[in-house]
Amino acid sequence: MIDAEKHDEIVIIGFGGQYMHLIARRLREQGFYAEIVPYTRVEEEKEKLEQPHVKAIILSGGPPSVHAPGAPRVPKWLLELGKPVLGICYGFQLLAEMLGGHVDRGCDEYGKTLVEVLEPNDPLFEGWSRWEPTWMSHGDCVREPPPGSKLLAISENGYVAAFRATAGGTPVYGVQFHPEVSHTPKGRQLLHNFAARVASAEAWWDPGDLVELLVDELRRRIRRGKVVVAVSGGVDSTVTAVLLNRAVGSRAIAVLVDHGLFREGEVEETLQLLKRAGIEPVLIDAKRMFLEALRGVRDPEEKRRIIGELFAKVFTDFVKRDPEIRYLAQGTLYPDVIESGAAPGADKIKSHHNVGGLPDWLHLEVVEPLREFYKDEVRRLALALGLPRELAYRHPFPGPGLAVRIIGEVTEEKLEIVKRASRIVEEELRKAGLYERVWQAFAVVGDDKWVGVKGDRREDGYIVTVRVVESEDGMTADWVRLPHDVLDRIARRITREVPKVTMVTYAVTSKPPSTIEPQ
Ligand code: XMP
Repeated sequence: MIDAEKHDEIVIIGFGGQYMHLIARRLREQGFYAEIVPYTRVEEEKEKLEQPHVKAIILSGGPPSVHAPGAPRVPKWLLELGKPVLGICYGFQLLAEMLGGHVDRGCDEYGKTLVEVLEPNDPLFEGWSRWEPTWMSHGDCVREPPPGSKLLAISENGYVAAFRATAGGTPVYGVQFHPEVSHTPKGRQLLHNFAARVASAEAWWDPGDLVELLVDELRRRIRRGKVVVAVSGGVDSTVTAVLLNRAVGSRAIAVLVDHGLFREGEVEETLQLLKRAGIEPVLIDAKRMFLEALRGVRDPEEKRRIIGELFAKVFTDFVKRDPEIRYLAQGTLYPDVIESGAAPGADKIKSHHNVGGLPDWLHLEVVEPLREFYKDEVRRLALALGLPRELAYRHPFPGPGLAVRIIGEVTEEKLEIVKRASRIVEEELRKAGLYERVWQAFAVVGDDKWVGVKGDRREDGYIVTVRVVESEDGMTADWVRLPHDVLDRIARRITREVPKVTMVTYAVTSKPPSTIEPQ
């Protein structure tokens, strides 16, 4: 746990969804430490919210309407704590309603919307011009701001875009637009204004500085016995392993289970990298076992289940052999911590696999040193730990590996195609200086064929689909408009260098309605 008690903090009351994470990230990027308290836990967290280091409260966006039956609310005392409050979108409408204003239905604004700032001297709007573009996404609107409040901004459609009221002797702000998204160019500034000018919070948070603190905490936590961590070559598990190694030295055991579904060269590179960081990882070669278990399996969820279970079995067999192992470390990140406790009724789109399926009888205590961090912060930790930049900025990779990038049965032939084609995609993006600017970039193969001519011979080759997306957090994503010459080079190289491929296509559907991985 980061000991934020001595440091200023902003609490975001989360009504769900990705926006609450974006608010926290935008604040943290600017040095303001922010945590999310799901709205369902506000009563439980009252004591924390009352503490003086909590400098302000933000109510996030969320469900469509405050008028919907069972619409989430927050208790009135939240506004009486003597701390500045900022409501965003749903939070804005909820505040308006709680303070006696009027929220109406059917006045939707979606997408880019101009806003006119009526009170340019208000600290919240410092640095804003009179007219600024913002991003809106709402069906209800605040028809009448709370009595006694000040109208600060109005949208081009004539709806209330921002107000300032007072409660508990402190300002209560509301904005209809989303300052946390990049489509509101001055949104970052507005959040900075709220934190620094309105709430007088100190910008102290710098994840890179926290290495010593994290190492100390791990040392205190793991006093006796050994801790095991499954590494995969990704930045999260590598950073976890390196932190553990710094904290408890050889009492930390890094295990790499090679399920045969890694990217080309990934296992060798990971082993070398860990060795350079002073870690001697244990390599378990389980390639054959996984491929055999997957033979004939076409259903994506069935693939995930098989991989998850087999992984747990292989890992359990390893752990059982060493009675000194008492702890299991995982690279769980902040969004997973919040999401796993705060997404009631969310649809399961894909069952993501990690080491979670270990039996209770192992009695391992779980250690999660990264549970307060976002992905971009872990990248900064990686650099602070002296890990190479290629590792720090490596794209996220799904737990079940290439199995979810192979549509239909996982065969050695298709596995080889995906590995080689993905490597080409990555290489070409690096050459074009685009690799670090995209979220993920890879190749996919299925069973469909396309008749090709190689030399003067007909060949029934596979179709490879290239997927390159940009995203903030993987929850939504847009396909990247790659320059045509980059696409051309990728396509030519894949058909030339990867046997049995006769067609390359490019995936041009965003998430939603698609997902990032094909399965
Ligand atoms: P989707 O395909 O659901 O992916 O849009 C969103 C993000 O999650 C990653 N992903 C996974 N990660 N186990 C994981 O650890 C999985 O089963 C899994 N499936 C998808 C995906 O790579 C993307 O970044």
